[in-house]
Amino acid sequence: MKKLIAGNWKMNGSLAANEALLRAIAQGLAGGAPSCDIAVCVPSVYLPQLQALLGEAASPHVPALGAQDVSPHASGAFTGEINAAMLKEFGCRYVIVGHSERRQYHGESDALVAEKARAALAAGITPIVCVGETLAEREAGRTEEIVRRQLAAVIHVNGHCISEIVVAYEPVWAIGTGKTASPDAAQAVHAVLRAQLQAASDRSARVRILYGGSMNAANAKDLLRQPDIDGGLIGGAALKATDFLRIIAAAPHPVPAKTAI
Ligand code: PGA
Repeated sequence: MKKLIAGNWKMNGSLAANEALLRAIAQGLAGGAPSCDIAVCVPSVYLPQLQALLGEAASPHVPALGAQDVSPHASGAFTGEINAAMLKEFGCRYVIVGHSERRQYHGESDALVAEKARAALAAGITPIVCVGETLAEREAGRTEEIVRRQLAAVIHVNGHCISEIVVAYEPVWAIGTGKTASPDAAQAVHAVLRAQLQAASDRSARVRILYGGSMNAANAKDLLRQPDIDGGLIGGAALKATDFLRIIAAAPHPVPAKTAI
C-alpha cells in the first residue's frame, strides 16, 4: 500500500504564503513520481486558491487537496458551517475529521465525528479520522481504550464503507510539542487500530493508518518503516517546503502485493 503524507496547515497561511509554499512543494516534486501519495489540508477559505494553483501546476506530481473540517449536515440553517458538497466543488479529496483541537476546543464528541465522516463519505471525500489519547489518559494506561472508543463510534455509523476511510493516530501530547511517540509505541497503537478495523471489515487491509504528532524530517523515516504506519499527518513541518519534501522523501516505496501461486 502506498503511504500517504498529508500536511495539516491548521489556521496558518495567507494568499502570498500559500502560493510560495505550494510552488516550492510542486517544484520539489517535479523531478519524478514520489513513492507516496501527498495531500495538503488547508483552511477552507483558501480552497479556491489552492484548487487554482494545483490546476495550473506544470508537473503532474502535485498534492491532492484536503480540508480540515466538515459539517455533518447537508445544508440549511447552520451559520458558519461548510458542507461536504461545497468541499467537493473546490476539489477536496480528503477532509480531516475529529482532530484533537476540534474535540478539545469545540467539544466535538465521538458521535459527531462519526457523522462528519459519514457526510464526507456520502460526498465521495475521504475522511481522515483522527484518534488519540491525552497525556493523562496515557499515564493512566488508557491509551488503547480511548483510541478504540473513538474509532468504534466511526465504525458504528460507517461500518458498510469503513474501508474507505483513513485513520490518523495522533497522541494529543505529541501534537505541536516536539515530543513524538517512539516508533515502537506508535506501532503498538497502530496494531490495535488495525485489529479493530480487521474485525469490522474484510476489506480493512486497504485502510491507511497515519501517525501524527511532531513528525518531522528527522524522525519520519523510522516511523514510516513500521509495518502498520501507513503515512503521516504533519502539522508544523508541513509549513516549510523543505521539511515537508524531506518527509515525503523518507516514505518507503510500497511493498508489492503478494501474488497467489
Ligand atoms: P504537529 O501537528 O505535526 O505540529 O505535531 C500534527 C497535527 O496536529 O495534525
